[in-house]
Amino acid sequence: CRTRNYKFNVCGDDEYHKVMCSKPIVTVNGRFPGPTIVAREDDTVIVKVVNHVKYNVSIHWHGVRQLRTGWADGPAYITQCPVQPGSTYVYKFTLTGQRGTLWWHAHVLWLRSTVHGAIVILPKLGVPYPFPKPNKEVVVVLGEWWKSDTEAVINQAQKSGLAPNVSDAHTINGHPGPIPNCLENGGFKVAVDQGKTYMLRIVNAALNEELFFRIANHKLTVVEVDAVYVKPFTTDTILIAPGQTTNVLVTAAQKAGKYLVAVSPFMDAPIAVDNLTATASLRYSGVLTSTVTKLVAPPPQNSTPVANAFINSLRSLNSKTYPAKVPLTVDHSLFFTIGLGINPCSSCVNGSRVVADINNITFVMPTTALLQAHYFNISGVFTDDFPSKPLMPYNYTGPQPKNFATNKGTKLYRLAYNSTVQLVLQDTGMIAPESHPVHLHGFNFFVVGRGLGNFNPNKDPKSFNLVDPVERNTVGVPAGGWTAIRFKADNPGVWFMHCHLEVHTTWGLKMAFVVDNGKGPNESIIPPPSDLPKC
Ligand code: C2O
Repeated sequence: CRTRNYKFNVCGDDEYHKVMCSKPIVTVNGRFPGPTIVAREDDTVIVKVVNHVKYNVSIHWHGVRQLRTGWADGPAYITQCPVQPGSTYVYKFTLTGQRGTLWWHAHVLWLRSTVHGAIVILPKLGVPYPFPKPNKEVVVVLGEWWKSDTEAVINQAQKSGLAPNVSDAHTINGHPGPIPNCLENGGFKVAVDQGKTYMLRIVNAALNEELFFRIANHKLTVVEVDAVYVKPFTTDTILIAPGQTTNVLVTAAQKAGKYLVAVSPFMDAPIAVDNLTATASLRYSGVLTSTVTKLVAPPPQNSTPVANAFINSLRSLNSKTYPAKVPLTVDHSLFFTIGLGINPCSSCVNGSRVVADINNITFVMPTTALLQAHYFNISGVFTDDFPSKPLMPYNYTGPQPKNFATNKGTKLYRLAYNSTVQLVLQDTGMIAPESHPVHLHGFNFFVVGRGLGNFNPNKDPKSFNLVDPVERNTVGVPAGGWTAIRFKADNPGVWFMHCHLEVHTTWGLKMAFVVDNGKGPNESIIPPPSDLPKC
């Protein structure tokens, strides 16, 4: 295995004046999306991050397990204090036993809207993919674009207590396709040769929207999600939530031509109307510039059946080489309600503020990093009494209780090293039911069950898939329904869990697990690096 060195200069850049509506953005190395990290399984990655902007910065390596190296995980105030303006921090971690597509993004404020990029982890040298080798691989990063500054968008929303504006466009590798009243300097093009097969490594880096992805006249064969191989299946449409990654094979088997790639939002209970479609094109070599592009209609925004068909097709590959190691016993059985709520707020526009919660607790970010508090035994930063179930149960998917303000706290849930966890995530509909893509740092988990309505602890576990459930790091909890996951707490540290819709994270839909050290020689957090930032 090798060491891969990168330098990330975080800069305030105005290069995108030329490409899109005039707006300076924060980037890594002046690029949007930022540079792709390419490595192999078991390689060590070293990234020197230099903060040249006025904001605090931290970078998260989304989906990288960070076995015992929680110091490199990146969420600000969870595993590290942020890198202050003018400062530098060196992230060092090993891609132990991982291969596939992951990504990196800023994990402070709303900077990840433009500070993000892909991580491509190739298999070890000489190890083939468990599917036919594609002729070429293409990274496709999906994003969201606001005409105004994204920090201003969220600051304004927080001040008013209302929801922030929806984005003005979606982007495919930085290109939106048409935005009204804005110049667009051509969309992203995938050049293909007739008969060849391409692997698209698709990342959803959007802040707040789950997305559908389609290509006119072409089938997509899904081979991997969240850097874990799946049983290949063929589909017209993929669904990808913020935080998720999906590798698909596409064969250029159609008549030589130009074919539209369409990326459009999915909301199973639309609380905001957003029909903006980003477009790119698949172009066969040799076609004339004048050739008319074959169009494809994106699914309507509320296409729940299309979404469900996709989600229900996902299975772990579960082969001899890549077995699904689903925990068959459960040490901690947890039931977390997740959703939106309303808290009183005298300075807000309606006298109330939209908040979000888990088990009725709106998480309060500490001012010292939780991992440091845990490692150095600093008291008063967090408590470890996060409830294993809601304190006041109610009918989560029925009429909602009135005047149900949330509690606030920096509460963590403590897990013994190597204990097994079953976590049922139940959506609630205080304001409106909405699908929540929940991301757990430091682990992959198995999605053993999913259903609509209230989870029934007596009945639903009987139909859990403990054989080949999909393994991932971010899962959509359906609007008005639930999702059950299992994982083994084999990674000591402090691990954030939150909705990957950035607005919901901001509102407090987040908590963290603290996993104690084990007793064995390789079961403790390694000591922190010497340049660990201070708060
Ligand atoms: Cu991709 Cu905590 O995030």
